Amino acid sequence: GKTYKIAVIPGDGIGQEVMPCGLKSLHAASARFNFNLAITTFDFASCDYYDKHGKMMPDDWVELLTPFDAIYFGAVGDPARHPDHITLWGSLLQMRRQFDQYVNLRPCRLVKGVPSPLADPGEIDFWIVRENTEGEYSEIGGKIFEGTERETVIQETVMTRIGVDRILKYAFELAKTTRRKRLTSATKSNGIKITMPYWDDRFKLMSKSYPEVTTEQFHIDILTAHFVAKPSHFDVVVGSNLHGDILSDLGPAVTGTIGIAPSGNIHPEAKFPSLFEPVHGSAPDIMGKGIANPVGMIWAGQMMLLHLGEKQAAEAMMKAIDRVLGEADQSVLTPDMKGKGTTQKLGDAIAEAIASV
Ligand code: NAD
Ligand code: IPM
Ligand code: MN
Repeated sequence: GKTYKIAVIPGDGIGQEVMPCGLKSLHAASARFNFNLAITTFDFASCDYYDKHGKMMPDDWVELLTPFDAIYFGAVGDPARHPDHITLWGSLLQMRRQFDQYVNLRPCRLVKGVPSPLADPGEIDFWIVRENTEGEYSEIGGKIFEGTERETVIQETVMTRIGVDRILKYAFELAKTTRRKRLTSATKSNGIKITMPYWDDRFKLMSKSYPEVTTEQFHIDILTAHFVAKPSHFDVVVGSNLHGDILSDLGPAVTGTIGIAPSGNIHPEAKFPSLFEPVHGSAPDIMGKGIANPVGMIWAGQMMLLHLGEKQAAEAMMKAIDRVLGEADQSVLTPDMKGKGTTQKLGDAIAEAIASV
């Protein structure tokens, strides 16, 4: 079978705890479906690395990571040790930009066995398409009159025509070809006067090329309400970097826990490696306890296999996740899913299921 070169970066906190589960499931898939994973693990993009080297990544990180077919990433950040904007802008956010991973694809699905906080959630199955290289996440701005009463800070939002159009096109294509043909756009064009109406205009223009896709636009504030009040309404939801970020914690929370949510930072043109990670962070509040939910990490591995073209293996991984969670065995589910299980127990159950589903 084929061999894929995978860069593994566990990072900080529970990133290091869920990564072994993700790898165990991937190895189970590779053993069964006859492909090989050539794995190289890196210790950078972590607070430990920062303590040793005074920076988050080595100077040649681009050369190191470029040859890989994909990057499998845990989580980074520990605000008790170093400020988040230093650790994140020194690692994950650099990778997303350097490797032009302009699509951040984040599926949200209510999985049988995972209790939702909603009394009557219905069927929830939507995918968030988050712009991932520009928007509100920019380094443009500055501080003046620092330390005085007139202290002023400015942070610019950047939207380019290429950047907006390519994420919208990805979302329209996804809605049309693989999903249920409904596309929701999240903006805030009543209050944010220049960038958000621009996004709306590009969205309207592109919708003319996709007559088979039903479109709608909501301001982000009411959209968060709809996410809670009628989550089953949504199919594909596209938004700017910050809007997509917020919606992709809210969506999974509505389906029970952010601990199961996966994320693909995708560079569709395949000139650079794409990066797969859970949506959640390093969760300092539960780190070291062995109770982190490993499903987000494993599901991200599933997205990685699909991206690499291992369709059958990806289907088996998804089935295994669904089966193990669906059995809703309290001794296996982690506490965020109202169970009493551990990271390792749940991870082992899924890896075992992959061999046989
Ligand atoms: P977080 O996602 O780490 O945690 C939020 C809450 O969800 C916590 O109560 C945590 O215990 C819980 N949680 C998260 N993942 C879980 C899992 N797998 N199982 C069970 N419970 C889980 O978000 P935060 O607290 O805002 O951030 C903590 C650190 O992680 C910060 O440094 C932040 O910048 C960083 N962060 C990194 C990433 C990333 O690497 N992609 C993403 C988000 C946050
Ligand atoms: C995410 C995270 C990151 C983001 C942070 C850690 C910079 O919240 O991947 O959703 O905002 O993109
Ligand atoms: Mn986030």
